[in-house]
Amino acid sequence: MAVVGACDEWSPLRESVVGIAYGAMFPAEDRGMVEATMPREHWDEFRPGHPFPPWIVEAAEQELQTLAELLEGMGCVVHRPHRVPWSELGGYCAAMPRDALLVMGDRVVEAPMAWRSRRRELLAYRPLLQQLRRSGARWLRSEVDLRVDPLDGGPSSLGRWAIGDARPAWDAADFLRLGPDTVVGQLSHVTNRSGVAHLRARLGAGVSVYLLPVRDPHAMHIDATLCPLREGLALYNPERIDPALLADGPLGGWELVPAPFPDARDDPPLYMTSPWVSMNLLVVDHQHVLVEARDEKLQALLDSYGMTPLPLPFRNVQALGGSFHCATLDLRRDRRRAPLG
Ligand code: ALA
Repeated sequence: MAVVGACDEWSPLRESVVGIAYGAMFPAEDRGMVEATMPREHWDEFRPGHPFPPWIVEAAEQELQTLAELLEGMGCVVHRPHRVPWSELGGYCAAMPRDALLVMGDRVVEAPMAWRSRRRELLAYRPLLQQLRRSGARWLRSEVDLRVDPLDGGPSSLGRWAIGDARPAWDAADFLRLGPDTVVGQLSHVTNRSGVAHLRARLGAGVSVYLLPVRDPHAMHIDATLCPLREGLALYNPERIDPALLADGPLGGWELVPAPFPDARDDPPLYMTSPWVSMNLLVVDHQHVLVEARDEKLQALLDSYGMTPLPLPFRNVQALGGSFHCATLDLRRDRRRAPLG
């Protein structure tokens, strides 16, 4: 059996990475990038050598551990990232494995990330990647010269997006898998056109990568904008997506359900995302979906579509920059099993 094999977001999850909060630091990025993507009230936190509040990191670590144990209890093999001293390397954390690696079929593709502070992040996943490669997975390195910065010039530099096209850049979390031959994604402040061309080349002719029309001036990662729940059913962010514009693409014919507007919240602060991180769900199998414990409107909505929400406290992980989808990286989903019910 292939050890890596996942080509959608909803088939029963058999093997996954669950991030760790250990040593999380605010990523020190170029001010223009921070202002383009991060919530205004937290811009000044993104400076070198500035750790996240230790009580948030500790609580997030516990939430991630609980998630890992829950998945294991459901029969899923769980891997955890290697501990890396981010404060020494000027990095961020390994709580969000979704951003750096894209799994498609038996491939694990390294993302040539735009953020300077995240270039060393793969160190946290190298031992696992080596293990997966020995077991037969295709590990595709980015083969992009990461010393070239997409901020340094380029034809579309500093237009609508914070990066130009000086070198290919994409984050894996700007893409979602809809089946063995279909990936959808968006251009963003971390994914440029040459990055999309690079991803297409890495995935080969058998996989089509479609760019969706998304209205998001702060775009960075599509998984608080669109959330496929099962084949033919997806949640969408009504502030960012006009479902009529999706009719002609790979989501044509899908039932698209607006996610409920998230409730205002400030404790712990959402340092790195909008409140729409609430729709960053992880579908565990054809029935079960992980959702934050206090997002009751979303739980009721999922319930009304015949799914069983699994409520789990995750607000401290959200404070670090993502929720269930961001904090995991599914390595194997079992497409052979028939849907329940
Ligand atoms: N960047 C996405 C948001 O904040 C995750 O909604």
